[in-house]
Amino acid sequence: MRLPERQLAVLEAASATDERTIDEIATETGLKPETVVGAAFDLRDEGLCSVAERTAETADLTDEGRRYVDDGLPETRLYRAGLALGADESAVSMGRVIGEADLDGPEVDIALSNFARKGFGAIDSGELTVDADADPDADSEAAALAALAGGDDPAVEDAVLDQLDSRGLVDRGESVTRSVTLTDDGVDALMTGVEATETVSELTPELLASGEWRDVEFAEYNVEADAPGVSGGRKHVLRRTADRVKDVLVGMGFQEMEGPHADSDFWINDCLFMPQDHPARTHWDRFALDVDPMESIPEELIRRVESAHRDGWGEDGDGYHSPWSEEFAREVALRGHTTSLSMRYLSGIAGAELEPPQRYFSVEKVYRNDTLDPTHLLEFFQIEGWVMAEDLSVRDLMGTFEEFYRQFGITDIRFKPHYNPYTEPSFELFGEHPETGEEIEIGNSGVFREEVTGPLGVDCDVMAWGLALERLAMLTTGAEDIRDLHGTLADIEFLRDAEVSY
Ligand code: PHE
Repeated sequence: MRLPERQLAVLEAASATDERTIDEIATETGLKPETVVGAAFDLRDEGLCSVAERTAETADLTDEGRRYVDDGLPETRLYRAGLALGADESAVSMGRVIGEADLDGPEVDIALSNFARKGFGAIDSGELTVDADADPDADSEAAALAALAGGDDPAVEDAVLDQLDSRGLVDRGESVTRSVTLTDDGVDALMTGVEATETVSELTPELLASGEWRDVEFAEYNVEADAPGVSGGRKHVLRRTADRVKDVLVGMGFQEMEGPHADSDFWINDCLFMPQDHPARTHWDRFALDVDPMESIPEELIRRVESAHRDGWGEDGDGYHSPWSEEFAREVALRGHTTSLSMRYLSGIAGAELEPPQRYFSVEKVYRNDTLDPTHLLEFFQIEGWVMAEDLSVRDLMGTFEEFYRQFGITDIRFKPHYNPYTEPSFELFGEHPETGEEIEIGNSGVFREEVTGPLGVDCDVMAWGLALERLAMLTTGAEDIRDLHGTLADIEFLRDAEVSY
């Protein structure tokens, strides 16, 4: 029989009668433990040895725990200081005992609460007495800390470990010990003789150039072998979702828009035929900025938008007949949606005049003065998009969404009729949450009214939408709370493991 060198080394180091741990074999063979693990699994797969796994609980001292091993537990120091000041005879002021014990900062509170818990004495009106019969030397927590510092797997009672854990003095974990035993086939193989083959683990340019690759034996990868986890830096799940969205939309023929986060109400709302007294335009919803009004808006466009608001657009159009102030239109706020970018692009001021057909998108941040809850943040990312073409219908819009969401494995989106001042018809999109089964709103869309497109100088159809990136990420990752995705509540394991691509 022929085996790769490392497997032969492990086979020879293993025994049929004694379990040998990976570490023992590593020391004996001079191989790295992970190499031994790989070889042991290969040998197991060939039936030459068996691998047993034992899981044990571990408890390691934290920095604080280690400090107390050296300095003594704060409550013990308090007790001894009290004793030194005669607090077993008569009460001594706390300040003196604390000074004598040399405790400060958070250690004072730690000392006081544990002193009382362990019955080392009493504290009353700022004075401390110690119980001369108490025996800190017999304290099980101190003994456990010392034993853990000594290493070698001391047996510590669960209750004591729990207590040390809750005090933050130990970190508990699990360790897996693997050990190897030869099988009968393994013994037979060794008896009949095994020849070592030199295996090559990497194909190099030299091997290729010399033609040697023809004769060497390549190591096989065991993709199922355990390996230590490596968690390096990685892009945040939301950023990865945004990148994926961009790839998908570019693949669908869209071009990316960009523009200011702080913009005039004109681009954010007026162009969208949002009446100036609409509730969303009040200070309740809007983050107003104390900056100069926006000067650089084409005069003629302002007049056309104003006229659409006042008198309507087209032959039988009708406006709001409500007050419209240019001053308000020029005020600057954080954008509450990225439809402001769509307005800029459709008006032509962001670049060249656009001729149909056109497709544009952005994946950008928007700001709303909402109330935080599991599905709302004050800032979030909107996936904005629009298609400009002749004769668009709701079917085109639905088809675009089905195509888009299918790229994320979402095939059951639902549509609900909706109202927006700027689109007609309009509908909202819903998706089913994979964990809770709840229908959550994932977007809003429609075909722009001519009160919007007319003043911008666009005379064909434009269908448009705003989708919520965070909601899409909730559907793809299964996160149940938007705050699991980012912010202080986000779980590091989730951020490490969440998958984005399909
Ligand atoms: N601006 C809308 C929102 O924020 C989304 C939208 C954009 C709807 C374009 C229709 C057309 O909800």
